[in-house]
Amino acid sequence: MIAETISLDEGSAVEEDSTRPVAIRKARMQDISVMARLINSYANNGIMLPRNELDLAEGVRDFTVAEIDGKLAGCAALHFYTPIAGEVRSLAVAPEHKGAGVGRLLVEALEREARECDLATLFAFTYVPGFFIKLGFDQVDRGVLPLKAWKDCLSCPKFQNCDEIAMLKKLRQVELKPAPALLEPFVQLPVVRG
Ligand SMILES: CC(C)(COP(=O)(O)OP(=O)(O)OC[C@H]1O[C@@H](n2cnc3c(N)ncnc32)[C@H](O)[C@@H]1OP(=O)(O)O)[C@@H](O)C(=O)NCCC(=O)NCCS
Repeated sequence: MIAETISLDEGSAVEEDSTRPVAIRKARMQDISVMARLINSYANNGIMLPRNELDLAEGVRDFTVAEIDGKLAGCAALHFYTPIAGEVRSLAVAPEHKGAGVGRLLVEALEREARECDLATLFAFTYVPGFFIKLGFDQVDRGVLPLKAWKDCLSCPKFQNCDEIAMLKKLRQVELKPAPALLEPFVQLPVVRG
């Protein structure tokens, strides 16, 4: 569902889907408890990584939120890993608002932010590759993602048995090359080169 921008305030945009306006803005500290509940409701089902409130406060500047009728309808974070690569993470839309274009608006907002910061690639680890394909991402071998992207994986219970799919969108021309597998068979070192 394509949304249309109907007004712009400083630091926020109000978009309109076919039903109700969706406000897209950067997250604030008062969003944290609702974001934590939303993210962890999916994490409890193994769909996302859990985030606690301290963790979210530390990374709050990464987050963009969507509001409908003044209530948080979704959130997503753009996390910088290298001077050219960023990750879409903690993307969650409230169950009652799924399928209304909120996820698309959030990822598009992160993409604008990534372009403003001169990133060359956006990537995500996900169980919903079809959603990311709709947004112009391609499935890639996780070996082409930057090493630092694996830092969360190292503490993840699924590290040895990860079934998430790596998705990547090039924002500009960039060469993707797997790094030498120095630590094989434990982990393959991946890099993204600009
Ligand atoms: C995945 C999620 C963020 C999608 O958000 P959403 O607001 O429901 O998605 P949108 O309505 O913006 O959909 C955008 C497009 O993606 C498609 N899409 C949405 N979810 C999809 C899915 N699971 N599989 C395939 N396509 C999907 C929609 O049909 C739509 O296509 P269209 O533009 O051709 O109409 C949301 O379902 C969610 O929060 N899921 C649970 C948490 C999760 O899996 N997060 C992702 C972690 S990486």
